[in-house]
This record gives sequence, structure tokens and C-alpha cells, in this order.
Amino acid sequence: MHSEIFKNYEPKEKSGLIPLLQDVQNIYGYLPELALQEISDFLDIPLSRVYGVATFYNQFRLTPLGENVIKVCRGTACHVKSSANILFALETALKIKAGETTRDKKFTIEVVNCIGACSIAPVITVNEEYFGRISAKDVPAILKKFNKPAKQTEVVPEVKLA
Ligand code: FES
Repeated sequence: MHSEIFKNYEPKEKSGLIPLLQDVQNIYGYLPELALQEISDFLDIPLSRVYGVATFYNQFRLTPLGENVIKVCRGTACHVKSSANILFALETALKIKAGETTRDKKFTIEVVNCIGACSIAPVITVNEEYFGRISAKDVPAILKKFNKPAKQTEVVPEVKLA
């Protein structure tokens, strides 16, 4: 199934584990269970070890991302400007915790450290868009902007965009 990926690696060469995981995730956006089994077989590494590595590193995901990925910065500058309140508001509104995806696959919340926009802290991003100097009360409008049926064209006022 993943022969295009495997052709760049030597069978049973254990050092290929992390690069292989990265390649699979680059294609699928996460690490499907079947791919982990195939990597285990190809490198002759126990599946439990492959899972161990995949869950150890934050860069790897075992579940698919939502249509919209919200990154909440919890770096120092954002922390002192109450980014925890923003995260809590997002988790409450979407009924998920950081690291999870809503059941309708519309949103994923991720917590990140400094995203290089400290001057407009606290900051979140939704997909590629930055929202700076926001507070928890801005969360509903931001979510509304991204939670639309595909063909709807209603214009929503911008919220303190960076
Ligand atoms: S700490 Fe949040 S952008 Fe730098």
C-alpha cells in the first residue's frame, strides 16, 4: 500500500523508523494504523515499539486532523496574557480537549509554544490565519467564521486580526 514511500528505505534498517513515520504523516496528515503495521513489518521492528515512538514525539498524530486546525499559543508571552482562558473557551465551545478533533471533523485544537507573534499576544491561528490580541469573548465569532457550510458566503466581521 505504501510502496512509494518504502522504496526510499532499506528493509530492516531500524534508523528509517522516524523518517518513515514522517513521510507517512506528510501524506496522510496522521499515522493510520495500517501504515504503522506496514512500517513494523518492513523494518522488522515490533509494532509496540513503532507505537511507542509514534506516541513519544509530539510531531506525530494517530488520528486525522479536522477540517480547521486551531493552534493556541501557550508560550510565555501568551500565557501572561491569559491564553489559558482562550483555550478553555475553545474547549468549552467545541466540547473537546486540546489535541482532539470534533466529532463532525470540523475542528482540531492543538496547543503550541511560541508561534513567533509575541507582539500581538495572546495569539491563536486557525489554519494559516492569525488572530492576535484576542480574549475568550472573541472565540464565538472566530469559530463562526470557520464553521460554515461549504457554499455559504455570508460575511462575518473580522475580529482583531493580526
Ligand atoms: S508566546 Fe505566543 S506568540 Fe510568542
